[in-house]
Amino acid sequence: MTSAVSMTNIFKSYGEVKALDDVSFDLGSNEVVGLLGDNGAGKSTLIKILAGVTRADAGTMNINGQAIDPRGHTVARARRLGIETVFQDKSLGEKQPLWSNFFAGRHLTNRWGFIDVAAEMRVTREILGNILGLQGSNLQPETIAGTLSGGERQGVAIGRAMHFNSRIVVLDEPTTALSLREVDNVLAFVRRIKRDGKACIYISHNISHVHAVVDRFVIVDKGRIALDIPKNGTSLEELIGIMVDIAGGGDQARAGTHP
Ligand SMILES: Nc1ncnc2c1ncn2[C@@H]1O[C@H](COP(=O)(O)OP(=O)(O)OP(=O)(O)O)[C@@H](O)[C@H]1O
Ligand SMILES: [Mg+2]
Repeated sequence: MTSAVSMTNIFKSYGEVKALDDVSFDLGSNEVVGLLGDNGAGKSTLIKILAGVTRADAGTMNINGQAIDPRGHTVARARRLGIETVFQDKSLGEKQPLWSNFFAGRHLTNRWGFIDVAAEMRVTREILGNILGLQGSNLQPETIAGTLSGGERQGVAIGRAMHFNSRIVVLDEPTTALSLREVDNVLAFVRRIKRDGKACIYISHNISHVHAVVDRFVIVDKGRIALDIPKNGTSLEELIGIMVDIAGGGDQARAGTHP
């Protein structure tokens, strides 16, 4: 399988905390990988380095065949290389209306080269209505992003990822604040990414969601890759058992589950 992302020997520390300690991670060009692990394991740090938000201390990286220095990567370059990210924390420009959030860095222009606000508002309205079923809510193109609820915010960020048809979609906890129907839409979206021949990294604490949509599991533990296994043949129950073992440091967890 051709590679969409290849990250090798990535290190990242925050003071004494080794957020990533020699991590290597690959994503095939038509693969959906579930990134799992406890709070603070390093999952968000890894995808922020890929998305150009955070600089790595050391390592090498290749995105869609292009070698990138992960110490000098940028958000703009990540987008140009086809990466669209829904971040766990703030993904939207707080003070801007939704339409300008959607098109930041890739505005629609009219024939004189000016930003075509009317067209951007129209497309934003379509996206809000169609993609995540956010109809009936008070979401409008003019709404200031900072006033949205957590769920609405995630919905809008996912809608943006869907609309721009990116080759690599990264979803960091995309469903925590969503209603059941919206969660179904997100999972359907991940399946569509796969069908369309694209790649996805899906991070979630909801193991059954991850199990339902991915091809492979990568478990991160204290800044290191603890396990990398294909879903093929791994049941949800087995996966949960593996996660419990890793979180409890192996023997301890087994002793806990079989008193
Ligand atoms: N900007 C930062 N400054 C200082 N420490 C940070 C920063 N970002 C992350 N860390 C630390 O790095 C480690 C990894 O954090 P990270 O956010 O990658 O974890 P995570 O796996 O995404 O966890 P969660 O599941 O809770 O989102 C944690 O110990 C965290 O406290
Ligand atoms: Mg995180």
